Amino acid sequence: MIEHGGSAASKVLQSVRWADGVLDLLDQRLLPEQTVYLKLTTPQDVWEAIRELKVRGAPAIGISAAYGVVLGIQGFEGTASELAEEAKRHAEYLATSRPTAVNLFWALDRMTAKAASLSEAGASAPHAKDELLKEARLIQSEDEETNRLIGEHALTLFQDGMGVLTHCNAGGLATSKYGTALAPFYLALEQGISLKVFADETRPVLQGARLTAFELQQAGVDVTLITDNMAAHVMSKGWVQAVIVGTDRVAANGDVANKIGTYGVAVLAKAHGIPFYVACPMSTIDLTTATGAEIPIEERHSDEVTNAFGRRTAPEGVKVYNPAFDVTPSELVTAIITEKGIVRAPYETNLKALFNK
Ligand code: MRU
Repeated sequence: MIEHGGSAASKVLQSVRWADGVLDLLDQRLLPEQTVYLKLTTPQDVWEAIRELKVRGAPAIGISAAYGVVLGIQGFEGTASELAEEAKRHAEYLATSRPTAVNLFWALDRMTAKAASLSEAGASAPHAKDELLKEARLIQSEDEETNRLIGEHALTLFQDGMGVLTHCNAGGLATSKYGTALAPFYLALEQGISLKVFADETRPVLQGARLTAFELQQAGVDVTLITDNMAAHVMSKGWVQAVIVGTDRVAANGDVANKIGTYGVAVLAKAHGIPFYVACPMSTIDLTTATGAEIPIEERHSDEVTNAFGRRTAPEGVKVYNPAFDVTPSELVTAIITEKGIVRAPYETNLKALFNK
């Protein structure tokens, strides 16, 4: 792991840990009430954990899937080229766990490309196994450094005393450390810059209430929890000077998919003249997807909408629509903050240029 101070962010629970051939995964469904680490030993365990939101957040999904490939090949007996085939098979399976976050496919592609190049280079199977574990660990440790850089860039957009609203959870729990959208809050705390964070609770799965409010509070960040329908009111009071969110996929034209409700927040920000920032690693930018209309939007089980507070809150048999993400059009995005710097419109040109930087 990269050595940095990171004292505020270090107070956040680590969501993904690799220990002695086992993936230790923090069950995020149980937070904030219980801290339970699950011991995952097969790609099937990892697939299910991703599908059921035991691990969630685009970078954390990618990291977990990379370890899922390692779990799949660690007992494999055969040549390096058979091992590469086996890694590919597990990667293809893990890629079916959730459709929207491109980091999942990015991490799996990186693992299969590594396996193929080891096979082509004539590596032995045991060596290839070691190298694939190293690759998964690298994906995780690079994410930490990436997020710190995102935080540094994002912090240049904020001034002492500002109120900043966020939606869903793009924090340490969703990544290997710091988070993307939450990274500037940890860095601000370490640097004595005072920011007041408003966290939308984020219906229906409550990532904002259960995870963002929890991790920021644990770290000592000034956080106030609001329900989603309070955001307009809080903005109208003049308490919010910026919005910052994470994303699951940025299209080539700068359209941004993120947790359902993000689009509404962007519209509200526009109506109140508040800048709307999106923070993400380069691995979330998908130049092969032309516009947001092409981003696959996951639809989840109706139970998430019809049940709340441990009981049924809607009539039996009611029709339900439950998209997990929405797309914010690039016109509403003030800037996209990556580890390589801050990008503004025109996104088509500037995102492309960022990859060549
Ligand atoms: O359904 P989730 O909880 O995986 O959705 C997560 C988000 O929408 C996050 O904002 C996004 O993945 C960025 S995490 C750094």
